[in-house]
Amino acid sequence: MFNNLRRLMPYMGDALPKLIIGVIVAMFSSAVALSIPYVLRALVDGPLSTGDARQIWPGAFLLLALSAVEAGLLFLRRFFMLQPGAMLDGTMRIAIYSRLQRLPISFHDRWQSGQLLSRAMGDVSTMRRWLSFGFVSIVVSAFTLVLGLGVLFWMNALLGLVFTLFILPLVYISIRFRFAFNKVSRQAQDQAGELTTSVEESVHGVRVIKSFGRSQHFQDMFNDRATQLRETELSKGRTAGRLSFWLVLIPDAALAATLVLGIGLAANGVVTVGTMFAFFATSAVLRWPLENIGMLLALTIDASNALDRYYEVIDSPVDIHDEPGAVEMTPGPGELVFDDVHFRFADTEDGEPDIINGLNLHIAPGETVALIGLTGSGKSTVTSLVARINDVTAGRILIDGQDIRDVTLKSLRTEVAMAFEDPTLFSLSVRENVLLGREELVDAPGEQTDKTLQSALDIAQAGFVAELPKGVETRVGEEGLSLSGGQRQRLALARAIATEPRMLILDDPLSALDVNTEAMVEQALRSVLSRTTALVVAHRPSTVMLADRVALLDNGVITEIGSHKELLARSPRYRHVISALDAESTLLDTPSGEEARS
Ligand SMILES: Nc1ncnc2c1ncn2[C@@H]1O[C@H](COP(=O)(O)OP(=O)(O)OP(=O)(O)O)[C@@H](O)[C@H]1O
Ligand SMILES: [Mg+2]
Repeated sequence: MFNNLRRLMPYMGDALPKLIIGVIVAMFSSAVALSIPYVLRALVDGPLSTGDARQIWPGAFLLLALSAVEAGLLFLRRFFMLQPGAMLDGTMRIAIYSRLQRLPISFHDRWQSGQLLSRAMGDVSTMRRWLSFGFVSIVVSAFTLVLGLGVLFWMNALLGLVFTLFILPLVYISIRFRFAFNKVSRQAQDQAGELTTSVEESVHGVRVIKSFGRSQHFQDMFNDRATQLRETELSKGRTAGRLSFWLVLIPDAALAATLVLGIGLAANGVVTVGTMFAFFATSAVLRWPLENIGMLLALTIDASNALDRYYEVIDSPVDIHDEPGAVEMTPGPGELVFDDVHFRFADTEDGEPDIINGLNLHIAPGETVALIGLTGSGKSTVTSLVARINDVTAGRILIDGQDIRDVTLKSLRTEVAMAFEDPTLFSLSVRENVLLGREELVDAPGEQTDKTLQSALDIAQAGFVAELPKGVETRVGEEGLSLSGGQRQRLALARAIATEPRMLILDDPLSALDVNTEAMVEQALRSVLSRTTALVVAHRPSTVMLADRVALLDNGVITEIGSHKELLARSPRYRHVISALDAESTLLDTPSGEEARS
């Protein structure tokens, strides 16, 4: 458990010395607390038994001074512990965020977003609480306990021994508690993650839920999960409660036993009354660390589990990364070659064929190739391979003769721009969204920036931007203005165009546009595409017209390639696929259902 928590160390950075000072200060303050009974003993055995009132003052002043020192040290402890906790919080969140950015799509496909969210937020807070409060308290409690027991033995060995024997069962009880609590603690954290997922999904999908009238159903589902979490938390509380029972009872019993014994000893003159007094004052100081064992154990177990959950993300392998010796991509005309490319998803069952199964395709510099195929044939998968969103499982992809795994990801992704059917906009201005791939321009207002932005918007037919309340400075995305599906698609397309890439990969980015707008975009794209090599996934025959050649994807390979006209003339399979797409798009493009039926 503590071994595990050592992994927090690197996140503390230069706040580590403060943590150590904080612990030392706290130990001093507990030593001061333990010295107070000695002064009491001197007072009881001195002025109190002699009856000399004037002798009280030095002792009383010492007592006051010691209390002031203890309070001062306590303040210092808080002061020093502030930074390590805050530091840990910040660095851990930054680390998990940057890991999430680097982890492959396959990881994000597998993990619920709520689980990731709860790890980055809730679990990190749990660890921070443990570090800034739990950790010091544990060290100080252990120190106080050992020192205090030593003091008890030193005052009177017999009394000390009896006291120690009485509290010994606490060790056994604590170990049992640890096992019971550990299980529910992890369970509660996982359930909190699921609850977060529920909130995340239903907020995201609120339109669908409302329109299908399923609000009640989702509410019930949420209630179930929330109830489950509450039950687990209650069970945690009950487990901790049972431990507290013993943690209060046992020290009290130890105190009672030593009291009886001590009075006997004092009556027989074996110990002084002052010693007796000091003995009980010391055991009163020990009550705090003993009673807190439960809370500190619970905190530690929670933190240790939170750390496990945190590291499950941090330790996930980033299997798409720069290969050793990766170089910057060298500029070239932009030839794209798929050479016997295979791809299968990691979770594909053995015996199933690869989704991409020996695909060969040669796209000349400046050429535009449309990729068509039936739905589910693997078109999106092919496009994901070029920017290494997924890595080929066999074969290779070459850009101007360079294997894309031999160049750095950053330089590859600067040269290859993508636009997807499902366009994601961020809570930023139109300008920032469109110039997302142009780091150097976003924060550099000027002629070049305006020109790039405007020409990308023009090509994507995003004239509607001028009509937005603040033009290109209008905030869009989740917390901004809502745009229509077609408007968002055009901005996402403009984003890809604005990077002026050598390689443009468009995964059906025009699907939400009406035919007229699509035709206009295509017209404008021709001017870009003549300078850029492009692979365009098409769902509509009209998009196919844009291409120099059309490639038909079937069973993981390119079965036909040629111009639209050629293929129409010679390939029955091509005619079949095109007519399948055509049927779909005619239905979609017809203004009203009435006409579609007629
Ligand atoms: N992450 C994944 N894990 C496992 N299988 C997947 C994954 N993503 C997609 N698939 C499967 O791979 C196949 C190809 O999917 P892909 O999205 O490439 O098809 P597509 O040709 O783009 O289809 P559409 O025309 O509908 O967009 C599908 O059968 C799909 O179920
Ligand atoms: Mg697709």
